Amino acid sequence: MYNMDYEKNLENLKTVMANSYDGALITPGSNLFYLTGLNPQNVLERLFLAIVYPQKEPILIIPELFEDEIERSSVNFEEVYVWDDTEDPHEFLSKALKDFEKNHGNLLIEDSMSADVLMKIKEQIGDFSWDPLSLETSRFRKIKSEDEIDYMSKAAEIADKTYERLLEENLIGKTEIEVAARIDYLLKKLGASGSSFETIVASGPNSANPHHFPTKRCLQEGDMVILDFGARYKSYCSDISRTIALGYPPEGAKEVYELVQRALTEAKEILRVDLEAKEVDKKARDIIEEGGYGDNFIHRVGHGIGLDAHEEPYLTGQNEEKIKKGMTFTIEPGIYLKGHFGVRIEDDIWVKDKKSVSLTKSSREMICIK
Ligand code: CO
Repeated sequence: MYNMDYEKNLENLKTVMANSYDGALITPGSNLFYLTGLNPQNVLERLFLAIVYPQKEPILIIPELFEDEIERSSVNFEEVYVWDDTEDPHEFLSKALKDFEKNHGNLLIEDSMSADVLMKIKEQIGDFSWDPLSLETSRFRKIKSEDEIDYMSKAAEIADKTYERLLEENLIGKTEIEVAARIDYLLKKLGASGSSFETIVASGPNSANPHHFPTKRCLQEGDMVILDFGARYKSYCSDISRTIALGYPPEGAKEVYELVQRALTEAKEILRVDLEAKEVDKKARDIIEEGGYGDNFIHRVGHGIGLDAHEEPYLTGQNEEKIKKGMTFTIEPGIYLKGHFGVRIEDDIWVKDKKSVSLTKSSREMICIK
């Protein structure tokens, strides 16, 4: 069972809503889970909607197939409309929205809600202005509780173990797709509910593409291989990248690797309470620029992580937001040499106190597999 304090999270949202919003309309996803504990999978086109009000308990519209899901929630609902496949769920929607009060004229809408549901809602309630729900929830979600850190540590540990196990295997001659499937299998076998995003295995010249999708290319001697994957544990994510050399590293790879490694280590070193987020990006970027590869580091240095693999706050060169205790980030500098190879190393970092702590613990040293 989960020990998370969904009621408290919901109360926090209701409190900030009281001054500006008449309601929050929430379809399944990480916000719904954070606020209620409800986490239905594969709802697809079926209408599953929670309506949260500032002054009263929320209402839930739920497909009969997912009725058991309610037991996962410790939240009290004012009303629960259960509909089966012979009924039109939009009748329930109009019932639920009938007495919708307009005080502020503003609503919060789940960011990932489908346009289809949103247009039905608009039909029923007329002109309200909308803000994305994450505008309010991200403020709370950025700061992780002890329970959340426990789950994230476990997700990181599963990713570390998966990497350790993978290194024991013979990778040469396997396709990127096969290695990615092996990683996904190991993540689940070692305790994850699944991977936290599509696993990346990028070998040889493909490693110069930061978001390469695994192909049928066989891993071979002389390749640098980027492995980028994460575990999901009790809905929380980890996200790790390691770059390994097969056989012998290509020319210049060791120098590039050491630069990326130093950028990660020093960026992690300065990541602390009250620092502006952009300073972390700057630290890594300065090191890579001084090493002569500034033009080959083509993405931000990191992102927040939690219920979503990518979430606020982002470690970009522009973000002036101050880092707070309890935040969690990835730091993932990379250098990409088109046509040759790429190197990325990534850890998950928790701002524990004054100092930050790495949740992923795999060695960052360059590993050469013979
Ligand atoms: Co990442």
